[in-house]
Amino acid sequence: MSNTLRFPDQRPPEYIKLDNEPIFNAERHLQLENPKSTTDLSELGYKEDEIEACPSSFGVCSSFRILSPEGVAVMRDICLKMHDNRNISVGTGVNRLGSYIRGAGYRSQFIKDFCDSPELSKHLSEIAGVQLARHSVPAVACGVNYAPEDITRAVDNWHTDSVAFDIVMMMSDPAKIDGGEFQYFQGTKQEGQTLLGIAGEEGIDAELPAERIKTVPFPGPGYGFMQQGNMIFHRACRLKKRAERITMVPSFVVVPPHAADATNSINMAGWDDPCLPAELTRHEAWRAAARLEKLVEEVSLHDSPKRLIEDLDRALAPLLAYRDRLSKDIK
Ligand SMILES: [Fe+2]
Repeated sequence: MSNTLRFPDQRPPEYIKLDNEPIFNAERHLQLENPKSTTDLSELGYKEDEIEACPSSFGVCSSFRILSPEGVAVMRDICLKMHDNRNISVGTGVNRLGSYIRGAGYRSQFIKDFCDSPELSKHLSEIAGVQLARHSVPAVACGVNYAPEDITRAVDNWHTDSVAFDIVMMMSDPAKIDGGEFQYFQGTKQEGQTLLGIAGEEGIDAELPAERIKTVPFPGPGYGFMQQGNMIFHRACRLKKRAERITMVPSFVVVPPHAADATNSINMAGWDDPCLPAELTRHEAWRAAARLEKLVEEVSLHDSPKRLIEDLDRALAPLLAYRDRLSKDIK
């Protein structure tokens, strides 16, 4: 792992670091297999120009084995240990998740090493058709979702993600779970949002036409699937019976860092996780620095002032947009 932004040296004070963890070993803990089927963005109804604006035409795939049985045992145990130190939504209304962990890599070295594993990112890059690396924002680099205490609530309502690529990996035994299915809409996100009457990324607990919904089965714990999450309209249904349902959701960035980046820092700036504004600042500064470095290499002495302004604007726009969003929180 060297092609992504290094993890911060500091840790949010709310997050408790686990001790006495096993050391992650890719040979022992990973068992990477290929998905049996993949669905392209075009099959969901996205048009050519919309797909060209994405880093890859990959949409979503069936679940495939990621962790070995030993890897599952260790990872599930860590997820159970972290449950008491999970994030708390303060009821700002901006967080649709019921019970979850962001920034698991701060709490668990094993999880951090799993997310940083070059074997994992190489495998996922091949499936996605674009080079991926552990996400540079630690909050989303590794998330964990637990079923909410109140099982009448959906595990996660219809939404798109604020990152481009993520995997959803089942950590519990799916044979023991009644309900809680992961589903995606077989259409574009705009169509799904219009049908539900919502705008933006955040979800709503409402129903879409059943014949347009696809459920992604998990054959067992340690299986997961990948999605281009900002393009796939998806949800995790409510449990029908109280049960352990833990999913791990590691996210990935497209590299090299000057590549187009769909990370939605503007939306994430509204989340209430500790230290997130600084994490997003690191991410946006990292990407902008890479774009500027590329500009230094590519600028021609013969470029017109108009062209130079456009190039500078393109390099700086996401950073400045995030800076403006951040300034709105200053009272
Ligand atoms: Fe999601």
